[in-house]
Amino acid sequence: MIDLSQKMQDAINEQIANEGFASNFYLALAYWCDDQALEGCKKFFMRQAEEERMHMLKLYGYMSESGICPVTPAIPQPPAQFDGIKDVFEKVFEQERKVTTSIHNLVKLAVSENDYNTQQFLQWYVDEQREEEAVIRTILDRIKIIGEGGQSLYYIDKEVDKINLEVMAAEAAE
Ligand code: FEO
Repeated sequence: MIDLSQKMQDAINEQIANEGFASNFYLALAYWCDDQALEGCKKFFMRQAEEERMHMLKLYGYMSESGICPVTPAIPQPPAQFDGIKDVFEKVFEQERKVTTSIHNLVKLAVSENDYNTQQFLQWYVDEQREEEAVIRTILDRIKIIGEGGQSLYYIDKEVDKINLEVMAAEAAE
């Protein structure tokens, strides 16, 4: 059993809500892409939605291991309207930056409380966020190179599909 302060419990519960929001956000994006016939992007976001759910469940597991019953949060509705695929990935980048900030704030709290278990547990999230941001940055760079509109959407979708396969291969190798 691990001792988690009330402050830390509240902060982890808040992170459960953040990861749950991220999962639903990606699910919404997957079906926005489906509606636009962007199959590669849909696959990318469906996998991301699963990943974020796993991030959320890991937090449930950590709280439970610490003898605390996690609070299952209400999750706000994610955005539904986007101004094209570049806008989608820019919003995804913003979303991931927010999650990175919230993870770093959790680490700061764990450090200030000398909570070594939580610090160590959170390191996985710090690494994960760095990797996720790098993937989205790569996609935004490719979108910039390909450009927008007409046939470029077809090439962007193919590129995202390729990146998705690379991410899956890298995860399988871990
Ligand atoms: Fe788990 Fe990408 O936030």
